[in-house]
Amino acid sequence: MIIRPSIYNCCVLELNKVHNRSGNLTFIEDRMEIPFDVKRLYYLYDVPGGAERGGHAHKRLQQLIVAASGCFDVVLDDGKNRKVVELNRPYYGLYVVAGIWRELINFSSGAICLVLASEKYDAGDYIRNYESFLIHNNENSSDV
Ligand code: TYD
Repeated sequence: MIIRPSIYNCCVLELNKVHNRSGNLTFIEDRMEIPFDVKRLYYLYDVPGGAERGGHAHKRLQQLIVAASGCFDVVLDDGKNRKVVELNRPYYGLYVVAGIWRELINFSSGAICLVLASEKYDAGDYIRNYESFLIHNNENSSDV
């Protein structure tokens, strides 16, 4: 039995920022800025106005979500509590633990959502049905 995933274990991390007159640079190194080794990187772009992404949870996957350009909101839900995190700067990353339902909404025009992931792509790691997500968290974890 593992401890129930909580949105309160998800947090916004401030990333390194190197600033000079020619622009800014942000870098991320395994385990120095984020608490997992990165096995995969992907990004969402050309998201039409009003579109929503996500709408699922992961059984094992941890992620760092960055608004590399523009802004969007991430709705986090652990089955008991919900919170909305606005991402609007490329030097902030939202760390999302496993077992959290997430929805990405309110994409600005031209937004780029960069995601660093702790695992390679595995369709079997997804929970795409909200009721199944609630059952999975109840069956596989406890509050203590
Ligand atoms: P999905 O994770 O559902 O996207 P989102 O949460 O942004 O709505 O993935 C959309 C599609 O892309 C789905 O068919 C699986 C595929 N995909 C990959 O093949 N590899 C990947 O690394 C990711 C993230 C998705």
